[in-house]
Amino acid sequence: MAWWQEAVFYQIYPRSFFDTNGDGVGDINGIRRKLDYLEALGVDALWVSPIFPSPMRDFGYDVADYCGVDELFGTLDDLRSLTNEVHARGMRIILDWVPNHTSSDHPWFQESRSGRNSAKRDWYVWRERRADGQLPNNWIRAWSDESVWTLDGETDEYFLHCFLESQPDLNWDNVEVREAMKETLRFWLRLGIDGFRMDVIHLIGKELDVDDDPSLAALSHVPLNDVPRTHDYLREIRSVLNEFDDRVAVGEVYLFEPTRVATYYGQGDELHMSFNFASLMTPWRAQSWAELIEVTEATHTNAWPTWVLSNHDNQRLASRVGETPARIRAAMLLLLTLRGTPFLYAGEELGLPDAVIPADRVVDPGGRDGCRAPIPWTKGAFGGWPSEPWLPSVVRAAELSVESQIAQESSYLVATMELLTLRRRHRALRRGSLESLDVRGDVLYFERVLDAERLAVVINFADAPAELGLQNVASVLAASSDDEVLEPGGYRIFQLN
Ligand code: NOJ
Repeated sequence: MAWWQEAVFYQIYPRSFFDTNGDGVGDINGIRRKLDYLEALGVDALWVSPIFPSPMRDFGYDVADYCGVDELFGTLDDLRSLTNEVHARGMRIILDWVPNHTSSDHPWFQESRSGRNSAKRDWYVWRERRADGQLPNNWIRAWSDESVWTLDGETDEYFLHCFLESQPDLNWDNVEVREAMKETLRFWLRLGIDGFRMDVIHLIGKELDVDDDPSLAALSHVPLNDVPRTHDYLREIRSVLNEFDDRVAVGEVYLFEPTRVATYYGQGDELHMSFNFASLMTPWRAQSWAELIEVTEATHTNAWPTWVLSNHDNQRLASRVGETPARIRAAMLLLLTLRGTPFLYAGEELGLPDAVIPADRVVDPGGRDGCRAPIPWTKGAFGGWPSEPWLPSVVRAAELSVESQIAQESSYLVATMELLTLRRRHRALRRGSLESLDVRGDVLYFERVLDAERLAVVINFADAPAELGLQNVASVLAASSDDEVLEPGGYRIFQLN
């Protein structure tokens, strides 16, 4: 098995992780400072959201130079040190590659927009203004009801931007673009980076003449971009990763059906892994989760599944399923016991909710500030940050801080650490098959099986107690309580005979 199949990934949104230079924004040295914590937590690989030079209109997902580090986060040397230190601890690090669009500040776009005959004109997606005044298509850009097309005054043509106007889409049909982008991958791979999370990777191929379905919500053009050409480009990308040993590509395929997600693995020649975001929309009910697990298992036969509870674009789990301690714990158990690679978003191990953002503190054009609140490290002022962080903290930050939770036997943090230890000890949790999936009332049951080891995971999703009724239990590996019955929201992991 490859390392990334057995690893637990931990997503760091660097602005919100930890700040060392006192400017209120987290930095690379802040990650270095917390490596003891991450090692003790027991995660295996770090995914660091973009740290490249950027005007930060989308907080780094608008890249102005793919081969550098924004001074807000530190220097290339800081990143080299971080990489070496991560490796010295036996961990891995992947970066966040943003191939669909650049910042409008990127020199490529500056050159492209400089004239219709510019050498890089075709590096972006330009369309002529039509005599009838119609836009090139009816696609709507993310987070708005505005068009993806903006008319560039200088050259009187439209350019495409699926996100902000300051995030023009690259034209992946142009071979020079593909070669230039592949070179940016090699730059980081040579530096020793273990791979990439690839931002909205399913968007890189485009059928512009397919109309949006107006009945779909914002970003409705996304499903329509699930086109064959993208898979050709993914194979090219994969072959770059294959030039190096042991690297990984995990794609943000923002499609919600596991069936479609699974196609992005190709024949083992496209992505190594792809996010399965259906979990973000799955209600907290045993039946709904069983259905998701079943369809994921059925569609991911030659594709290694991934699991997430939240990320920097979505409401945190605690806010989504309700801040019920039992549910938060049970969800973590689910994340860490399903078959596949779990991606844990920094702060989930603390059970953080979204922060409440007053109107005068809103900074994100996509309304996602709440899930990006700073990690509270200590009970003290600003959660141990050297100065006031860029976003407000979560409520009860002191109580939820690492300092408070590490000292409490039954905290979310300690429970997560115990589960991560359990995962390391039991190969069946990492590599085993998932069997005997079942729902009784609102109780979810499944087994993880490898060779002679058979582990049963039982979770009560209900607000009422439920009978356990298991016969062949050899030992209890994890339990939310010692009760004979499963309390509301309770869980157990049993070793079976
Ligand atoms: C997905 C990223 O996760 C999100 O934060 C970003 O705004 C968009 N892609 C555009 O890059």
